[in-house]
Amino acid sequence: MRADAASGRPAAEAGPVFAPRDLEPGHARLVTVEERPFNAETPLAALDQPLTPVELFYVRNHFDVPRLDPAATRLTVDGRVEHALELGLDELRRLPSRTIVTALECAGNGRTTMTPRPPGTPWGWGAVSTGSFTGVPLGIVLERARPLPGAVEVAFTGADRGEVAPGRTVAFERSLPLAVALAPDTLLVHEMNGGALTADHGWPLRLVVPGWYGVASVKWLTRVTVLERPLEAFYQTERYVYEGERGTPERTPVTRMRVRSLIARPADGDDLRAGQVEIAGTAWSGGAAIREVAVTTDCGASWGAANLDPAASPYAHVRWTFRWDATPGEHVLASRASDSSGAIQPLDAVWNVHGYGNNVVQRLRVRVSERADRAAPG
Ligand code: MTE
Repeated sequence: MRADAASGRPAAEAGPVFAPRDLEPGHARLVTVEERPFNAETPLAALDQPLTPVELFYVRNHFDVPRLDPAATRLTVDGRVEHALELGLDELRRLPSRTIVTALECAGNGRTTMTPRPPGTPWGWGAVSTGSFTGVPLGIVLERARPLPGAVEVAFTGADRGEVAPGRTVAFERSLPLAVALAPDTLLVHEMNGGALTADHGWPLRLVVPGWYGVASVKWLTRVTVLERPLEAFYQTERYVYEGERGTPERTPVTRMRVRSLIARPADGDDLRAGQVEIAGTAWSGGAAIREVAVTTDCGASWGAANLDPAASPYAHVRWTFRWDATPGEHVLASRASDSSGAIQPLDAVWNVHGYGNNVVQRLRVRVSERADRAAPG
């Protein structure tokens, strides 16, 4: 991060240092949802592999990508701690690190399938990917800083900021309960899929909270603050909260990803030939291991169990396949996952004001025609 000459503080705190969005090549194959700030979905067909390649990994940015100088970037750890710290990225990399494979899903994924459609970035189904993330357990750093009695939460601040209402500019900030921040799987990440993080995914340093909706995994991380009171911040108490949802206490922050599955192939609207068709997809849950994926090819009249591949980690997606003897006609396909806690995808979307956590069963239509050899006369 650039230093501000007058104050000696990181420039991101002195004012925005936004870069134009041409920092990264290769966006062409993502499905662009918004150009600026850049937001894009993973094409569903790309979910049918163990890791989503970085160039196809969905991107969720609230503001322009901040341009950071890794040589000058420092991570500040402060607040209710015995020893406030400042660590350079090289110092951080010398600490023990771990690699965890996890699905990452935006809480707004599937928002456009809710009725009435909530406001917000119009996500279809593709705001989800699976990556392998390498970094230092945050707990190692927090233990060095020594949280004091009374600490309840840890807040994370990214270097990006922008206007959320006329005259109201905020930094991207989100918090975790102290116990989750200290969990060994909560990582200060500097590598993704075996390479350096890219600008869109939080380079040079981001948080990754496996199993939690993506909003918890703060990108371009510059500050970690231990709090004795729950954080009040735009992206903690006004967005990424369940509001107006039946059965959920008002304004509960989104936490773990709800159980969900998607069909990667065939695609909605595909024309298929009668005969053996392999339906393939992905399932994940932040709550517990995937127990079953049921598939229907007759709009829910009957369901059969898909074959599940082993998951790369408790947080990774599970790939599944289902053999279907496709007969001519129009068919509605759907998959429905459940996890070992008993959670199951709802058949109807559970609506809320901002359209979060919509894990409704995805339905797609395909048309099956006679096989060419049978259709031919004679
Ligand atoms: N961190 C910062 N600093 N700014 C952001 O806009 N978006 C959050 C999270 N971390 C965001 C952020 C949201 S809502 C999601 S879903 C994930 O980053 C997306 O991570 P990705 O773009 O690497 O897929």
